[in-house]
Amino acid sequence: MIDHNTVQQILDTADIVDVVSDFVSLKKRGANWIGLCPFHNDRRPSFYVSRAKGICKCFACGEGGSAVNFIMKHEQLSYPEALRYLARKYHIEIQEKELTDEEKQAQSEREAMLMLNEWACDYFEKQLHETQAGQDIGLSYFKERGFNDVTIKEFRLGYSSEGYDDFYKAAVAQGFNPQLLFDVGLCIPSDHGGGHDRFRGRVMFPIMNIAGKVIAFGGRTLKKDKNVAKYVNSPESVIYSKRDVIYGLFQAKREISKQDKCFIVEGYADVISMHQAGFKNVIASSGTALTEGHIHAIRRFTSNVTEMFDGDEAGVKAAIRGVDMLLKEGLNIKVLPLPPEDDPDSFVRAHSHTEVEDYIEQNEADFINFKTSVVLKDAKNDPIKRTAAITDVVKSIAIIPDEIARMVYAKECSTLFGMDEQTILRQIKQYRNKFLEQWRKERQQQQAREQRMAELPQGEGSFEVPPPMPDDNPTDTSTPSSPSRTTRTSSLIDVQEREIIRLIVNYGMCYLTDTEYEDGSVRPTTVLEHINNELLLDKMSFSDPLYHRTFDISKRYIDSYYRDLEAFKTQLKELTPQYIAEEMENADDGQELDKMDNNSLIDAQEKKEKAAIAKANLRANNELTEFSSSYLMKVLCSLDDDDVRQLACDLASDNLPQLSKIHTQYATIVEERDKLVYLVPEQLYNWKNALLIMHINDVKAQIAHADAAQLPQLLEQLQELYQVRHQLAAIIGDRVVNPH
Ligand code: CTP
Ligand code: MN
Repeated sequence: MIDHNTVQQILDTADIVDVVSDFVSLKKRGANWIGLCPFHNDRRPSFYVSRAKGICKCFACGEGGSAVNFIMKHEQLSYPEALRYLARKYHIEIQEKELTDEEKQAQSEREAMLMLNEWACDYFEKQLHETQAGQDIGLSYFKERGFNDVTIKEFRLGYSSEGYDDFYKAAVAQGFNPQLLFDVGLCIPSDHGGGHDRFRGRVMFPIMNIAGKVIAFGGRTLKKDKNVAKYVNSPESVIYSKRDVIYGLFQAKREISKQDKCFIVEGYADVISMHQAGFKNVIASSGTALTEGHIHAIRRFTSNVTEMFDGDEAGVKAAIRGVDMLLKEGLNIKVLPLPPEDDPDSFVRAHSHTEVEDYIEQNEADFINFKTSVVLKDAKNDPIKRTAAITDVVKSIAIIPDEIARMVYAKECSTLFGMDEQTILRQIKQYRNKFLEQWRKERQQQQAREQRMAELPQGEGSFEVPPPMPDDNPTDTSTPSSPSRTTRTSSLIDVQEREIIRLIVNYGMCYLTDTEYEDGSVRPTTVLEHINNELLLDKMSFSDPLYHRTFDISKRYIDSYYRDLEAFKTQLKELTPQYIAEEMENADDGQELDKMDNNSLIDAQEKKEKAAIAKANLRANNELTEFSSSYLMKVLCSLDDDDVRQLACDLASDNLPQLSKIHTQYATIVEERDKLVYLVPEQLYNWKNALLIMHINDVKAQIAHADAAQLPQLLEQLQELYQVRHQLAAIIGDRVVNPH
């Protein structure tokens, strides 16, 4: 928990150009900076950074946001982690907020475990590099395997000494609670009290989460003894769930998203060797089948996955088995069979980088095609086996969620199997329906299980599914409820509400107009205040909870805006002499002063001064406008509320000047900002109008079902609504044509 003032200080200090520059080389273009987008494979610079707005955005892939957002996405960090990153970058000391007891309790276990693991990782690294046994046994083993120093450091490899409880003693001496050592699995309680080391005499492979925190370890024995497990891994714990963690993702993630592709291999050693050989988009399933959790982790970075495996028969069979899972999740799967005697580790060590690249190029195959050829080869000419083989492949195709992909495969399959395409398509359809049904049932069972769990504490031992509701009953004579509002018109309203929020995010604190308030005072009013006034007047509010929250949060910043505005104005006033001096210096004299007489010289000087003052004032004014218009955007785009922040970043970036190609010093661009006085009332009108239309349709629907007694009242209501709509149109007409 970071103290509020520290957060503010971090956000104020972080300069978006500077932050992005650490990862992207930027060039100045007009008022902005541009560079190659780090979030997709960008050929031409489509990544724009606006220092004034504190925002970056890719016009090709849409990624971007504030400095915090950029770091969160680029480094795959959480909000507080990104803040800490920025604090480190700008040498800001973090003041921690005092936690409540519950917060402490909840956080402390996780944090204590992570802290212990971090310490342990460091300890094992030191053992490897700084002790005799570590160097003789551990380091020499890694060197023998061809790992260089950079690689060993990057993957934080270590060594755990032979002693029964060397680590246990060291950790306890360091002040760690023995129970914590057992909980995290580094140590095992001994029968006669105390504890001993789980990983003794092993080389250590720390397992990190996406953010690079050590959450577990794998320890490899150096003994040839068949009875000793080759690898021992940390047990599951509060911080380590095998099902969700992929080895190497932390080191590989940037390259994976850059290349929009990743290789999956089996073991720790494979990842590390490939990484060292320059193939950095590699991760390992750590010898287990891939789970949905793994796939979700991968899919944050790419949906193109290539599975690498030994090309011997067992390897091929194993490779085919796990893949349906990946297909179901909609990933594009390729396979890369290696020569039968190789695993990825041995293969990249035996070949040069270009040789490996060539091999990939020539041998990488589409999974379905590969599977088809394998099962066909197995079946040879046996017709029964052939049928089974076709079914096998058809089932795999049927799992793929994308219909077009299924059709393409059906076509290819028909060629490979020498079968009619329509027949294959029909079969695919049958299996697809079957799978859909099966998944639906699984989901239902899962839901029932969850519901049962939820109900259990209330004492109900058994759970019965309630009988299905009759969803269409013609004999039902009860009053027909009007069709639900939200489903019929929500998208119409949503568009209008979103547009209002977009105006608020981008221009909320911009001056809009002078308003006469009830107390008779006339005050300058911002876009946000104006919208708020109008909503209060018409008793309207946002129907979407996220928009509602965004609006509420925005309003909370009105006071601080006016305070900060005053401070900014004072600051500008102090700067004005400096601006004038700069303008004087920049001004081109244009006349040969030394040939002038005194009077013309004074005239020229005066003219020059006037021009400089005008320019300086213009500059100050521009800065003031920029301050106002970016104020709320900066706040919202760096907020700790994930949904609001994301919404604000999406909407804010819609508005960066994409027009830089036509944006020259000379062209006057009519910015949206200059048209607010039309845009805001018009948009409020659009929204109200949409609400009225929805209302009118509602009443119309009621009229269709109404009996004679209800009818007059409904008709009257309809008439009223039409009238309001008419008035509204008249008002908006006035405002748009003649804003003052
Ligand atoms: N594995 C495991 N426990 C074992 C054996 C294997 O957890 N007893 C996991 C490890 O994550 C290992 C992966 O399965 O990395 C693949 O196993 P293997 O190919 O045997 O290991 P490598 O990493 O290739 O190790 P080495 O090359 O050193 O034999
Ligand atoms: Mn291996």
